[in-house]
Amino acid sequence: MSTSKYKANSILGAGLGLRSSHYQEVFNTKPDVPWFELLSDNYMAEGGLPLVRAEKIREDYPITLHGVGMSLGSADPLDMDYLGRLKTLIKRLEPTYVSDHLAWVSISGKHTHDLLPFPYTDFTVKHISERINQVQDFLGQEILVENPSSYLDFHSTEMTEWEFIQGIAKSTDCNLLMDINNIYVSAVNHDFDPYEYLQAIPADRVKEIHLAGYEKMDNYLFDTHGYQVHPPVWELYKAALNRFGATPTLIEWDTDIPDFPTLRAEALKAEKLIQEVA
Ligand SMILES: [Fe+2]
Repeated sequence: MSTSKYKANSILGAGLGLRSSHYQEVFNTKPDVPWFELLSDNYMAEGGLPLVRAEKIREDYPITLHGVGMSLGSADPLDMDYLGRLKTLIKRLEPTYVSDHLAWVSISGKHTHDLLPFPYTDFTVKHISERINQVQDFLGQEILVENPSSYLDFHSTEMTEWEFIQGIAKSTDCNLLMDINNIYVSAVNHDFDPYEYLQAIPADRVKEIHLAGYEKMDNYLFDTHGYQVHPPVWELYKAALNRFGATPTLIEWDTDIPDFPTLRAEALKAEKLIQEVA
């Protein structure tokens, strides 16, 4: 029998990213939200108010932990201090899933706030697979890795992004967090077919989906997470649900964050589509 003080931690339906501007409303009203996603990097201190709030949320809701600091695509050695703090947080909050990105955020000990791309080659499949395996061994659990949005190609790239993800799926037992907005943004920026991308993804590995709103610039799409989900992304999402089944889905809204009811309404649109597939 579980000795956890928390409620069951399987997630279903459309969750919300927990934002500090919504804490009080969530604590006061205990909204009927199926699960919350917490940005792990914000809760890695030994104590303090953010952690107290996270534990309070976890008492009432299942959660996932989503991070930006693993830097799986970097040439630096893995940051074991970061992973140690993540492991402590995982023990504390018992998340359903722990995820990070197919990207790099640090090199030679210097950090950037951006999730940066890398070329897709046999070498990077091997390099990143080894790092994912090391992370999973250290954490003692599987992680989910998320597809990036990108704006440039590398001359040295040897394969498509979906072939790269297939390579990662073959060389590791990690699962996938498919960001449908990222697929769409990259498809427009690099002129590929997002539906062909979806078809190539190993469906049994997809455990979570992200949706977000991009910004249309003069000659590219910018993944700002500052808008409602746009119609072509909803269309692609429907195709994703048909292919992957009723997958837990999160609306990411990180800039110009709206009030809680607006965010919740956006999640309910996803919830309705998940119910149709279920
Ligand atoms: Fe995402």
